[in-house]
Amino acid sequence: MQLFLDSANLSEIREAASWGVLGGVTTNPTLVAREGGDFPRLLAEICRLVHGPVSAEVMGTEAAEMVREARELASVGSQVVIKVPMTSEGLKSVIQLQALGIRSNVTLVFSFNQALLAARAGADYISPFIGRLDDQGADGAALVAEICGFFRSAGLESRIIAASIRNPLHVVQVARAGAHVATVPFAVLRQMFVHPLTDLGIARFQADWNRVPEKKKN
Ligand code: E4P
Repeated sequence: MQLFLDSANLSEIREAASWGVLGGVTTNPTLVAREGGDFPRLLAEICRLVHGPVSAEVMGTEAAEMVREARELASVGSQVVIKVPMTSEGLKSVIQLQALGIRSNVTLVFSFNQALLAARAGADYISPFIGRLDDQGADGAALVAEICGFFRSAGLESRIIAASIRNPLHVVQVARAGAHVATVPFAVLRQMFVHPLTDLGIARFQADWNRVPEKKKN
């Protein structure tokens, strides 16, 4: 399972990229609005920091509008993947984007049937939102397992990005569920490093090493 960063913040993206773990980036209108400024320019900066796909969302509600926005965003670079909402117009735009050689990510997916429709329309990526489902008392990771299990047995090629990840346990759950990608907020990515036994182990090794006389260390 690849790890993407769910962020539009350049310092977060730069830092995560320096750890060598970053397969790509996803943004959304909320994350971009938080950063302010010109979106195509921000997108270009993000693409400079990351080697993999970078998802950028269109805001139009009709396919023609979505495709027009998508062409502008995709002109930033070949890494750009266009996020379209899970609507009939969104799926219409997926077909048109495919003809233009622009990759798509169908977002705001909350059910198996939505994922199936997006796959049949030819979406490159499909993003079920785990945390927002859990917030409603549903089981987001179970949905990812259901989608991934069926897609593999049916030979559907869309890649599943588990999105709306809220904690490190979500990452474990969607990996077990067979997601191709987990897109993770920076805070969760940082939490994934943490284990008290690692901290304790480092402290113990440091203390033991510091007891060795200086001349024996070289
Ligand atoms: C995914 O592509 C979305 O940007 C994101 O994961 C949404 O997460 P949220 O539910 O925490 O806003």
